[in-house]
Amino acid sequence: MANRVFQEDIVSEVRHRASILEVVSEYVNLKKAGKNYKGLCPFHSEKTPSFMVNEEKQIFHCFGCGEGGDVFTFLMKIGQLTFPQALEALARRYGVKLTRREASKTQKEEMARRELLFQINQMASEYYHRLLTQKKEGEKGRKYLAQRGISEEIIQHYRLGYASERWEGLVEYLLEKKMPLERAWQLGLIFPKKKQENANQKKGWYDAFRNRIIFPIFDLHERVVGFGGRLIGEGLPKYINSSESEIYHKGEILYGLPEAKRYISEKDCVIIVEGYFDLLTLHQFGLKNSVATLGTALTPNHLYLLKRYTKNIILLFDPDQAGTQAALRTLPLFLEEGLVPKVVGLPHGEDPDTFIRKGKVSTFEKMLVEAPPLIEFFLHRLFKVYDPTSIDGKVKIAEEGLKLIQKIPEKIRRDFYLKLLAERLEVSESTLHEIISSLSKNRTGTSTPISQLPPMEQVPRAEEMLIRLLIHHPELIPMVSKEGILHEFENPLLKRLGLALEDIYRENERMDLPEVLGRMEKDLSERLRKYVFEEVGIERNQLEKVLKDCVQKIHQRKLKREGKALLKRIQEMEKKQEAEGLEALLFRRQEMAKRERSLQK
Ligand code: UTP
Ligand code: MN
Repeated sequence: MANRVFQEDIVSEVRHRASILEVVSEYVNLKKAGKNYKGLCPFHSEKTPSFMVNEEKQIFHCFGCGEGGDVFTFLMKIGQLTFPQALEALARRYGVKLTRREASKTQKEEMARRELLFQINQMASEYYHRLLTQKKEGEKGRKYLAQRGISEEIIQHYRLGYASERWEGLVEYLLEKKMPLERAWQLGLIFPKKKQENANQKKGWYDAFRNRIIFPIFDLHERVVGFGGRLIGEGLPKYINSSESEIYHKGEILYGLPEAKRYISEKDCVIIVEGYFDLLTLHQFGLKNSVATLGTALTPNHLYLLKRYTKNIILLFDPDQAGTQAALRTLPLFLEEGLVPKVVGLPHGEDPDTFIRKGKVSTFEKMLVEAPPLIEFFLHRLFKVYDPTSIDGKVKIAEEGLKLIQKIPEKIRRDFYLKLLAERLEVSESTLHEIISSLSKNRTGTSTPISQLPPMEQVPRAEEMLIRLLIHHPELIPMVSKEGILHEFENPLLKRLGLALEDIYRENERMDLPEVLGRMEKDLSERLRKYVFEEVGIERNQLEKVLKDCVQKIHQRKLKREGKALLKRIQEMEKKQEAEGLEALLFRRQEMAKRERSLQK
């Protein structure tokens, strides 16, 4: 099945039979609002509905976070489905029979290439694991892990491995298995040798991981996507990690998640740590609802992943400056996702691994239970960083504190911290409310989800109106096309949008919105969706007049822009006393003024 793709006409049949209203209604409480339906967006937290569905056009759009698309996009996003999965679900529901055709050649090639990468990683993982567990060579690795207290069970379960001190151990193994070494290079497992003794000689390769404990990293399908390697003994670099590749994106993978996910759901809580050993120790001591980041900061993608299992997150970090900073930097990320993480700071010089191994599991568990919300920790720090007794300090604390507090999704919680901040700053709550409203005036959107809309640029009204007319009355497109007015647009995004609409209409002589949206770049489709939901509210018999007005205004603006540019050039030339060409420019300016006057009539 993975080798086949769906035919386009089936996709379009499912699209036509499906009702976006029906599908969305299963997840969102929708109320009719004019031609549209409105509800609370399921993709970001909000208190006033800005999520819209249009049944006639079969699309949805959220004015808060900018999410949107058709019925497929919706299902994929809400159910974490791939396109084929969403298509299958909808086909079943609406009684469309799926026939499949063979994947195209390039699709097959791509799948085969990815498959090969997984295969090489799998082989490498087995190679390292065998060295550690079965070979004499692996003695050093076994000793190291024993000394660090890692159990036999953990070694087996997490498929830990050992890379020997040899320079070509893995290279030879992969050669033996007839694996293409270029691909292993792409995965960051081996590197080409710099020097070749003579040009006829085969290219030489060497192992990336040597004298290290190997941690294979698994995705949720239990496939090896990458590796981490801890140097045995002291030295630098302490860890090396295989590079990002087609199959490995560090921002989307959490170490330990395949094992932890069950426990995270069960306990409705996840512990996030930073290190491989920390993770393994936690699991070994029964705290299996924990995951580790892979030497990178937490990303929104990590949070999406975790949100499938729980909303309760506990961060563990090193109490030093860097660790604290790193944890605090993630706070806005959490708040924007409607998550209120808690935080545990361990005693100085300890990490979860060392702390637990000192026999402090019960203390550790107690710390987890008592973990304060990260936001409290943050506020606490603000009072240390700035001087709360000085006016300047108060202003700083209020501003930075409020910036975060207003991101808290639940009103009760938000008010609680607002009150707390007011009390500690010894100012009134209403003062803080005023600061909040002045802060939000300086911002763009009403809420700030991660996928923030780009700041609204100054949009020429006539250009915007014209585009909206074209969207709601595509039959006007040929007329506008003939005028060539789109090329005179000042706003680049609207110009691209207009030209794209023109193209699509010319091809199909109609506008099937979901299809059109699917073909557009993200910024264009986002803007298009927004306009679809904003009625233009113009009577049919007024359409042409409004259109003509727009065209004229755009034309005038263009002339004005050109006139200004021309004038600037003339002035420059006069300043430099260049006579040559000046006359021609002056003449052009006169002509232009004439045209402008005739337009105004
Ligand atoms: P730490 O330096 O805290 O190491 O890095 P650790 O995990 O406690 O390891 P031990 O106990 O000293 O053996 C935390 C994590 O940061 C990443 C690794 O993922 C590591 O587990 N890291 C650290 C790197 O990627 N590269 C490095 O050089 C160091
Ligand atoms: Mn450690």
